[in-house]
Amino acid sequence: MSISFSDISPEYIEKFIVMLRKRYNIDFSGYNISFLRRRIASRINRIPLSSVSQYYEYIENFPEELNLLLQNLTINISEFMRNPEVFNIIGVDILPELIANKTGQLRFWTAGCSKGEEPYSIAIILAKMGIGSSRAIIIATDIDENALKDARAGIYKKSSLKNLSDNDRKIFFQNYDNGTYKIKQKIKKSVIFRKHNVLTGPDLGKFDLIMCRNVAIYFGKKLQEKMYRRLVEDLYIGGYLIIGKSEMLPKYFGGLLKPISLEHRIYRKVK
Ligand SMILES: C[S@@+](CC[C@H](N)C(=O)[O-])C[C@H]1O[C@@H](n2cnc3c(N)ncnc32)[C@H](O)[C@@H]1O
Repeated sequence: MSISFSDISPEYIEKFIVMLRKRYNIDFSGYNISFLRRRIASRINRIPLSSVSQYYEYIENFPEELNLLLQNLTINISEFMRNPEVFNIIGVDILPELIANKTGQLRFWTAGCSKGEEPYSIAIILAKMGIGSSRAIIIATDIDENALKDARAGIYKKSSLKNLSDNDRKIFFQNYDNGTYKIKQKIKKSVIFRKHNVLTGPDLGKFDLIMCRNVAIYFGKKLQEKMYRRLVEDLYIGGYLIIGKSEMLPKYFGGLLKPISLEHRIYRKVK
């Protein structure tokens, strides 16, 4: 019989959080409790075991399982040009505006970049505009070391490129016989990947554009507020913040941010 997410007691959630913090220095306290329960239950059912206490013992006997649990908690689903309308607005409105009105280096940050699809998408748009890394730098961060390793390797299945035109696939990727696509060096070198926790990580400076999509959905309300406060703080006045389609900014940012597109969750810092 499979166990359901309601079988995962807060006491055990806390125990797993402590284990993960000790081993990986990643703190899941304050993440959305239903999310944690669902993801722990799905690991238990995959083994399969019939109780959370058995799972706790199992991790003690097979420490590698904790890494699999961590993978289950850092959901890395993404794709190139995810929500294409958002990237259309970036390419048609946001980047031309920033390029026209700001001299010096433009700074972009994608926080929770997963395996690199999001920052590489920005790099592709910039390359098509003829903008190189001396004019624009893209910093891409995530807490998940495995995802960052894949991001640096830059090898993808065709399905994650489905929003790209055939032409873009040809120009920006090397296609291998096994059906995988490797991002070309000229795009790769314009993105700097770094392990970084968006809630607690060190200051990365100020940015002209921050994308942080589909990260807050895993957080409880307090952590969401903490993260958005930081992201707004880290924007230059006139800089843009883009969050995930199903995410909501707390109301009190209303005075600081002006919506550019509510539908696509694009905001601009006005003061
Ligand atoms: C669903 S992916 C989003 C990828 C991309 N932003 C997108 O929307 O397609 C969520 C990513 O957030 C990362 N993440 C979760 N908590 C984080 C934190 N506290 N700091 C940085 N990254 C985090 C996960 O490791 C995962 O790679």
